[in-house]
Amino acid sequence: MRRNYLNPNPVNNLYRDALHGRLTRRQIMKRGTALGLSSALMGTILRAESLGAQGTPEGRELGWSIPSAEELQDELQLSTDFAGVTFNYMGGADSPTTAFDDAIFTRFNEITGANATRVQGAQSTTDRLQFLLQTFAAQAGDIDAADIDVIWPGILASHAVDLSDSVPEGDFFEAIMQNNTTSDKLVGIPMFTDAGLLYSRTDLLEEYGFDGPPETWDELEEMAQAIMEGEAADTPQFTGFVWQGNAYEGLTCDALEWQYSHGGGQIIDPETLEVTLNSEQAIAAFERAKGWVGTISPQAVTGYMEEDARAVWQGGNSAFMRNWPYAYSLGQSEGSVIQDKFTVGQLPTGDGETHAATLGGWQAFVSQYSQNQDAAKEFCRFMCSAPVQKARAIEVALLPTIGSLYQDPDVLAAQPYYELLFDVFAGGAVPRPSTQAADLYNEVSITYFTGVNQILTGADAASTTESMAAEIEDIMSDL
Ligand code: GLC
Repeated sequence: MRRNYLNPNPVNNLYRDALHGRLTRRQIMKRGTALGLSSALMGTILRAESLGAQGTPEGRELGWSIPSAEELQDELQLSTDFAGVTFNYMGGADSPTTAFDDAIFTRFNEITGANATRVQGAQSTTDRLQFLLQTFAAQAGDIDAADIDVIWPGILASHAVDLSDSVPEGDFFEAIMQNNTTSDKLVGIPMFTDAGLLYSRTDLLEEYGFDGPPETWDELEEMAQAIMEGEAADTPQFTGFVWQGNAYEGLTCDALEWQYSHGGGQIIDPETLEVTLNSEQAIAAFERAKGWVGTISPQAVTGYMEEDARAVWQGGNSAFMRNWPYAYSLGQSEGSVIQDKFTVGQLPTGDGETHAATLGGWQAFVSQYSQNQDAAKEFCRFMCSAPVQKARAIEVALLPTIGSLYQDPDVLAAQPYYELLFDVFAGGAVPRPSTQAADLYNEVSITYFTGVNQILTGADAASTTESMAAEIEDIMSDL
């Protein structure tokens, strides 16, 4: 049984465009009318426009910390055999930090004479995978290389070139190397790792008399409620907690954190391969999150992806946010209204002892259908090299996959929390069941995030969890 993933719905897209200031009020009204939206929903979308604020990363131009061409060439000895060769590398969606990626491409081209070209990927990782799978199914060489998600090596292995001879120098995290290795190849070189974090507004915690960020989900709820009530007088749109509730891979990450931190374990037991999702703890965790929607979190959170949550947070309009480390440097950027007013730490526990951060991260991958494999491999070696990872950590807060960089004084000066959370980043995060489900992982995840999104938008938690578990068992029986 194979299921196809369909694009997120147009209402979410409209909401997102409004939130990110891409549309005028008139355009919003026009699209909303065409979609037949209720006036309540239209009101929510129009208000979204005033919630967002895009932070620009730094006063200085991005790429400032990347070493010079000479220094890099001294250290990496990149091949100049590819001068004049053009190839396409698909990265992420355009964002306030895109200029940093562009600077890396420019530096590589300057050193090697090649023409590595950045292709923009979809914001939703679920959509990006769909696009790559279609491209590879046609054996098309248009995308020579790409960033691939930590959950994709099993899905993309058959389309990959072995990268084991392109790994740059460095003490790469062993668990991620293993994750990216299938029986016969290294499918991706670890470029940066990721872990879910709780962002908290320290100025507001203090103002409302709390000692520090919440340890438990109960505390988070209490604090979010109190701060929201207090802020409502001056800032009616102020909300307590923003996160990723849209039906896409990001919700799999958030929901796994809720489940695990309530003592509900993982979706599939990594040892026995049993589907362990249908537990009282998981159901209680989903019930709790459902209770946030429309109370301490906006109703529209069930359509949010990372950048939607960040826009609200960065606009100074929420007390807490669940997000990945990338949001840190943006929040701290020049002119940001929340600069020096927040901290990051572990997400709260639900059972009194278990904290959970879902393991994320991206790898550099080369397609078997590329006509420019050697040039693309050299580019991957460059992208994942220690000096480039160091610059990426300093400027855009993406977590290195090379252990020694966590002791680098420049990195720690820019990202002081790396030291505190090192254990989480260096192997303490909770993986999604991508190794267990291998090429069926995407189906497992779609079942999970679709079910959880249904619960968040009103479905019964117990019966929905039971049917999700049954469906995942059915998928896994195809293995
Ligand atoms: C981040 C993570 C990635 C995850 C995605 C979900 O990009 O690094 O692993 O799948 O978020 O939205």
